[in-house]
Amino acid sequence: MRAEVALKGRSFINALDLSPEEYEALFDLAEEIRAQPEAFAEVCKGKVLATLFYEPSTRTRLSFEAAMLRLGGQILTVADPQTSSVAKGESLADTIRTIACYADLIVIRHPKEGAAHLAAMYSPIPVINGGDGAREHPTQTLTDLFTIRTFKGRLSQLGVAFCGDLRYGRTVHSLLRALLRYPGMRFFLVSPEELRLPESLRDELQAHGVPFLEVEQMEEALPHADVLYMTRVQKERFFNEEDYLRLRDFYILTPERLHLLKSDAIVMHPLPRVTEIAYAVDADPRAVYFQQVQLGMYARMALIASVLGVV
Ligand code: NCD
Repeated sequence: MRAEVALKGRSFINALDLSPEEYEALFDLAEEIRAQPEAFAEVCKGKVLATLFYEPSTRTRLSFEAAMLRLGGQILTVADPQTSSVAKGESLADTIRTIACYADLIVIRHPKEGAAHLAAMYSPIPVINGGDGAREHPTQTLTDLFTIRTFKGRLSQLGVAFCGDLRYGRTVHSLLRALLRYPGMRFFLVSPEELRLPESLRDELQAHGVPFLEVEQMEEALPHADVLYMTRVQKERFFNEEDYLRLRDFYILTPERLHLLKSDAIVMHPLPRVTEIAYAVDADPRAVYFQQVQLGMYARMALIASVLGVV
């Protein structure tokens, strides 16, 4: 039992549910698992993870499922709630209480903000938020912080540029809140006017006294960034197709624009990518978004093992 990871039995709904020390302990464990996966291949034997996704997903659901399988546990999945009793009108509270009879841990993704919190209120077993509307996506933050720590060697004294849909991008919201707590951070918020960071989050930045600059042109931010965090325009949160199409191609990271970036900067993206990063960028060593995917699986292995109290 590791005294430093006191996460047993806890839900993970918001990025700020974990202290910086708890994140560090998870990253240390994730590194250990990554270095020596055989040593952890059976720690979750006999345990069951349920994934309940009310929104499309490739990475988050499969990452959790791969993580559980690699820890020797098993999975139950409701990939399409329309084929479950949800289609008969069952409430989320009842669905959760039912799944809790079969599993040891639930990961939920839902289009409504606050749905994961509601699920955790009704669940007798821990709940992990796999994304709730435009609000939070804390395990993407776990992945992102682990990626930054891995490539930059630190989570402080960094210039971080967020580019794209800062209004609806839940990965941006969770990551910004988490990064606010580290010293010496500077943020560059690159978006068109319509997709600016929500005012409440700008207020949080101001309240923490963290320097940030809002700009519309990515060229203004690139030379200052140690981390460039690109995002997809969140089509599913738009009410109007015309606006989506107008904003979709607002930013495209091309090899030419990459010249403006420091030689030791990294380019991240929670994925899926649509048009915002040209495929030609993928070969650049600074483009780490696929390594980010793999680090996310190790980070989730550390999270599952800790929440289930098996390490
Ligand atoms: C993100 C999400 O679902 O919010 N994807 C992910 O989980 N990696 C980002 C996105 O969909 O754009």
